[in-house]
Amino acid sequence: MSLSGIGEGSVYGQQLEVVEASNETLLLRHSDGRVREYIDLLSAYGAVNFGHCNPEINPFRHFSSDIAACFYPPEAATFCAWIVRYLNLQDYEVLFQVGGSMAVTAALSIAQQKKAGKIAYLKGSFHGLGIDALSITNVHREYALQSALLGITDESKFLCLDYSSDVAPPPEEIAWDEVSCLIYEPVQGANGYIPVPRGWLQAIINKAKEHDVMVIADEIQSGFFRHGSLSVARQAKMNSDIYLFSKSLTNGLYPFSIVLYPTAFRRELKHSFYLAHTFQTSALGCFAMYEVSRFIDSHDIDQMCSNVELELEMFASVLRAQEIERVYVSGPTLSFEAPAGLAKPIVQRCLSKGVLVFSGGPSLNRIRVAPPVTIKLDHLRMALDVLHEALLDQLS
Ligand SMILES: Cc1ncc(COP(=O)(O)O)c(C=O)c1O
Repeated sequence: MSLSGIGEGSVYGQQLEVVEASNETLLLRHSDGRVREYIDLLSAYGAVNFGHCNPEINPFRHFSSDIAACFYPPEAATFCAWIVRYLNLQDYEVLFQVGGSMAVTAALSIAQQKKAGKIAYLKGSFHGLGIDALSITNVHREYALQSALLGITDESKFLCLDYSSDVAPPPEEIAWDEVSCLIYEPVQGANGYIPVPRGWLQAIINKAKEHDVMVIADEIQSGFFRHGSLSVARQAKMNSDIYLFSKSLTNGLYPFSIVLYPTAFRRELKHSFYLAHTFQTSALGCFAMYEVSRFIDSHDIDQMCSNVELELEMFASVLRAQEIERVYVSGPTLSFEAPAGLAKPIVQRCLSKGVLVFSGGPSLNRIRVAPPVTIKLDHLRMALDVLHEALLDQLS
């Protein structure tokens, strides 16, 4: 076996191969050669919110170029105009990056150019695996191969804010003058799909803005309808300066990410920067992103999200009746706290019954359910029944 064993598949306790993927269905091959069908409630951590291999999101339809170093295909500009209009962000421009972590790095760097200082982030956040992104990551840090490099960053440059009601700092007591930027996920993905308390977040954002602190909404996982809207931050009127998207931006077809920032910021940068990723101008990425925008425009995504949300709400009431704690439904996404030590066995039990759910949270004890919004509802119901049985099995 030459494939690295470093990866997130370990929660399933066995190495499986993907043979085929279609909407909510995955065909996986087991080590004994057996191929089995699974209902996917992971959506690749929010990277395929519009269904696997969605035939209506076909980047190859445009395949007239691959990559031409300094030049984007026209779909790039069309997409930029679309997203700026969709989010009503006048006078913004779009920087393409490769992978979520690099979008985070770019946003932090823009902030430091404008006002040097500490980077404030929230307890429970996950912002990626670069040294900078990992420094402001609070969950699953210890699982990152890259964590060995953390000792080379200066911890005093970072400020972790806890929002738990008993210890949350009053916004006016934070030394904002020392802070360059505040980065947040409106719904914390790796933390187990935890919506950050809106009132507290809004108050923190308002205070940060009063002190000229740049506010960065990391919607790399929460964006593109994982929680029922393209941008949770925009929908909830969390007045941020920079917005980051990735994952379902291309429906998982290419690891593009975007940094949306006010055009004025670029004019204020101290140098003229030009170094870029080799793959930043990927035509395939641009075609995929453009196709996603067309899919969104030509479907009633709000209705799709509501249909899934309704099923999840019904399931959530069952869980709450069984005194399962911290059950959250945020758009077409559900999460709950598994009783201590039971998340992994529940995930593995579901796997044995043909359903893929995943764990999350600081001690990996939350169950996360994030189906594609295109999932067939009878499949969703079947999969939730399996999850319920797996939970009852473990509770008994
Ligand atoms: C909120 C958030 N930010 C950043 C990242 C990093 O993205 P990538 O893994 O593409 O570097 C992730 C990845 O899950 C994420 O969930």
